[in-house]
This record gives sequence, C-alpha cells and structure tokens, in this order.
Amino acid sequence: MKGRRVASAGVAVVLVALVAAYGGPDAYAREPAPDAVTTPFTTGSDTAAAARGAKLAAIGNCVTCHTATGGQPLAGGLPLQTPFGVIYSTNITPDDETGIGGWSLDAFARAMRRGESGDGHLLYPAFPYPHFMHISDADIGSLYAWLMSRAPVNARAPHNELIFPLGFRPIMAVWNLLYLHSGAEAAPSPSSEAPDVARGRYLVESLGHCGACHTPLNRLGAERRDLALQGGTIDGWDAPALTGLASGPTPWTQAQLVGYLRTGLASAHGAAAGPMRAVTRMLADASAPDVEAIAAYLLALPSGGPSVPEHAVASPPAFAPASASAARVPVSTAPGNGANLFAAACASCHAEGAPMSIDGARPSLSLSTAVNADSPRNMVRIILEGIDWHESDNALFMPSFANTFTDAQIAELANFTRERFTSRGAWPSLDAGAVAQFRKDGQPR
Ligand code: HEC
Ligand code: HEC
Ligand code: HEC
Repeated sequence: MKGRRVASAGVAVVLVALVAAYGGPDAYAREPAPDAVTTPFTTGSDTAAAARGAKLAAIGNCVTCHTATGGQPLAGGLPLQTPFGVIYSTNITPDDETGIGGWSLDAFARAMRRGESGDGHLLYPAFPYPHFMHISDADIGSLYAWLMSRAPVNARAPHNELIFPLGFRPIMAVWNLLYLHSGAEAAPSPSSEAPDVARGRYLVESLGHCGACHTPLNRLGAERRDLALQGGTIDGWDAPALTGLASGPTPWTQAQLVGYLRTGLASAHGAAAGPMRAVTRMLADASAPDVEAIAAYLLALPSGGPSVPEHAVASPPAFAPASASAARVPVSTAPGNGANLFAAACASCHAEGAPMSIDGARPSLSLSTAVNADSPRNMVRIILEGIDWHESDNALFMPSFANTFTDAQIAELANFTRERFTSRGAWPSLDAGAVAQFRKDGQPR
C-alpha cells in the first residue's frame, strides 16, 4: 500500500494548495448555508419521534459505525480505515462531556448537513454527511429525539491517525467547497416518479448512504456522481453495482431484494457478507415499507453501462438441485488440489445434498454474485473472512479460512469453486500473488 500512501500524500499537498488558493475556511463560510432547520423539535410527543428515529437510524447504520468492537452502543471509537489514514467515530450518546448531550437540534442538524461539529470544527467525510445533508427536517428531528433518548456514556474516541497534513481539519472546508454542493444536486426526484420509488430514492441518497460503498471514489475520496451506484470498493471488498439489478442475467425481483436487504439472504442470488452484513442486520429493524421503497427504487434504476457486473450464469447451474441420492461429494473429472481442498473444507456445507443446501432457502454457489463476478475479489474475501457468527442470524455462519490455507491454496480453491459451479471457468488473473494482494487490501494501512 506504499504506492497508495504516496498518492494520498500527493492529494494532501494539492488540498493544501487549494486551501491557499480559495482562502481556507472563510471562503466556505461565505457560501450560502444549506437549508436552515425550520421544524422545531416538538413534532408529536418525544417518544413517538424517538421511535421513528430508531427505525430511521437502522437505515442510517449509525450504531454500526458509532460502536467500537465490544464497546457501548453509540459511544464511538470504531476505527475506520481510509486511504488517508485511520479516523475514529465519535461518541454520539447524550453525554454532556464527551458526547452530544449539550447539543441543540440546530447543532445536530449542522453536523448532519454541513459536517460541522458542535464547537465548529469540521468533520471528515468518513462520516457520510454528504449524504445526510439531504435528510428532511422531520427525519433529522426524529433522529435527534432518538439519540437524546439513549443512555449517556462517558467515553472519548482515540485521536485520528491521518497522513500529514490532513490532521489539519480546516482543509475540509475546501473539500466541502468542491463536493458538498455538487452532492446537493442529487436530491430532487422527477415529479413523474411513483411515490414508493421517490421515497426509495430519498432514502438511498440520504440516510441510507448506499453510495458511500457502492459508488467509486475519486482521488480526493469523494463519490463520482457520474458513476453513482455503479460499484465501489470498501475494506478490501467490491460493493457491486446497484444499477441494472432488474436486468442482469438473473434479474432480481422485488421480493428477493427486500428479503436480501432485511435478512442478508436471497435464495436466487446469495448472501450478504463483509461490510454488507452489518447493513442488512440493521435494515432488519427498519420500517418494512421503507425497505420496500429502497428495493423499488433500485429496481427502477437502469443498467449503468459497462461496469455492471454479471450476476449469475444464464446457463443452468453446473449441478442439479439437491436430492437425497446426490448426498455425496461429487468428484471432478480431473481432481486437482482445488477439488480436494473443496471436498475437505467446503463440501460439508456447500455440496448439493449437504444439510445446508437441502434447506430450500439456501442459495447454490452457482447463483452467488461473488462466484460469478468478473473480479475474484469477493470470492477470495469470503474465503478469508467467512461470515461472522451473530445471534440474530446464526444459521448464516461460515468460518474464516485466512489462517487455514496458503495464498496458493486459496487461489486454487476459488478457481475450482468457480469452475465447478458456473460455466465461466477459472479467473485468469487469480494466483497466489493476487490473493496476497487481496489479503493486504483488507488490512489496516
Ligand atoms: C460510515 C460510518 C458512519 C456512519 C454510518 C455514521 N457515522 Fe456519524 N460519524 C462517523 C465518524 C467517523 C465521525 C467523526 C468524524 C470526525 O471526527 O471528523 C462521525 C461523527 C458524527 C457526528 C458528529 C459528532 C461530533 O462530536 O462532532 C454526529 C452528530 C454523527 N456522526 C451522527 C450520526 C448519525 C445520527 C448517524 C446515523 C444516521 C451516523 N452518524 C452514521 C462515522 C459514521
Ligand atoms: C459499508 C459499505 C456498504 C454500504 C453502506 C452498503 N453496502 Fe451494499 N454491499 C456492500 C458490499 C461489500 C457488498 C458485497 C457483499 C457480498 O459479496 O456478500 C454489497 C452488496 C449489496 C447487494 C447485493 C448485490 C449483488 O449483486 O449481489 C445489494 C442489493 C446491496 N448491497 C444494496 C445496498 C443498499 C440498498 C444499501 C444502502 C441502504 C447498501 N447496499 C449499503 C457494501 C455496502
Ligand atoms: C460451516 C458451513 C460452511 C463452510 C464449511 C463453508 N461455508 Fe461458505 N457459506 C456458508 C454460509 C452459511 C454462507 C451464506 C450463504 C448461505 O447461507 O448459503 C456461505 C456463503 C459462501 C459464499 C458466498 C455466497 C454468496 O452468496 O455470495 C461463498 C463463495 C462460499 N460460502 C464459499 C465457501 C468456500 C470456498 C468454502 C470452503 C473453503 C466454504 N464456503 C465453507 C457456510 C459455510
């Protein structure tokens, strides 16, 4: 990742030059402020607003980012890896000293809309305020009511570890100047849009911040609006394109997409792993009509050009559906190392006839987006990381094989799996060196 660091340092120097050119934070201060918050924090009873806020927070993924591993909910301290260094989420419980206990609704809205903290210091866009700026006044009020109803926790986030000179927050004024306004254009929906599609657009663009992972970033870490939702990378994973879901070789249906978003599993497409897992765990608690609206909006998105991955094979799966007589591990015609490794490590769960695949809801690997993707990245990641055990969906556990296999074995295993379950053949680029690189991409820099 040394090259990446050097590149990032270059970017930082450019930003400093821009601060000089634009005159720094003052220049931003002269920009018109985003819409003022007009809704006073009195809509309905506070408990009703807080209950609405809880459902909205599930779409905003607030708890995932603002809770450290093993830490108190919302007390912050989770390290986020960015190309520019490590940024820690902060304490957003209503603790007066270390959290947002002393914040007014206006101060909260300023943070969410302008990336400005309570004392005026500028926040980094690892906090997705370029999306949150589009949240409606009513929803900001509900989120605030919910946060203020949480238990206060006294906890301070560790200091960020950013490459020089990005630790100097006023630099973000220039970033905001460059990117916050172009983001603002994304909000209004065409008046011809069906209400649920319009609601879905609003949620995807604002609170859901799906583009934070599913849109490629430019070198300054801003989303490329011209490639919105056409696929990005995050923590070493590919976040596939969300455009054209209804028109791929195996088109998603509304029911499949809603099921995937709420349970992390779609029988015809696969399971959510990596960073998407936490998103689906949260969406399980969101309001059902809102998740349906998100799905309706995504399915209405046209295919976005060449970067749309193929989701699954058009030809029939390499293996017939599970039947009792097929309960043995099929042997490849020329069993190589990959076949042996698969039989030993994977077949107990993934061979047809394995108890897991007899359960009708289980996706065959032949339908998995990861196995069919043009890049082997997610296939390798899922072998490396597995799927964390979690009590809410404990049947979805898959062990991590990062310490079980060598890079060469993982490459053989991934290629064998793709050859066996699809008609697409091995990934030509996938060898031990590629796996070593994928391992590094997923590690803290
Ligand atoms: C992708 C991770 C991520 C998500 C999702 C996220 N946040 Fe944050 N948030 C951060 C980080 C990181 C910071 C600190 C940024 C900094 O210090 O520059 C932050 C800062 C904040 C702040 C400013 C706190 C302060 O002391 O300055 C508020 C308020 C906030 N988040 C609220 C929310 C709410 C509400 C949600 C859900 C709707 C949410 N965040 C979702 C990462 C996230
Ligand atoms: C923190 C990053 C992140 C965020 C935020 C995120 N996703 Fe994802 N998403 C991913 C990754 C990574 C994958 C691939 C997971 C895998 O291969 O199992 C994925 C996969 C998906 C898929 C499956 C696509 C396919 O073709 O198989 C859908 C659908 C999806 N996400 C929808 C959404 C929606 C809707 C949102 C916003 C509400 C969202 N995602 C927010 C990272 C993210
Ligand atoms: C203990 C059971 C278990 C073992 C062993 C196991 N897996 Fe999995 N795997 C799962 C579960 C559960 C899922 C989630 C999808 C599902 O429920 O079918 C999954 C998902 C996957 C996916 C992603 C599917 C998608 O939808 O994106 C791939 C690829 C995969 N496994 C490959 C492997 C390989 C290769 C091995 C052997 C190295 C392996 N698995 C071993 C349980 C297992």
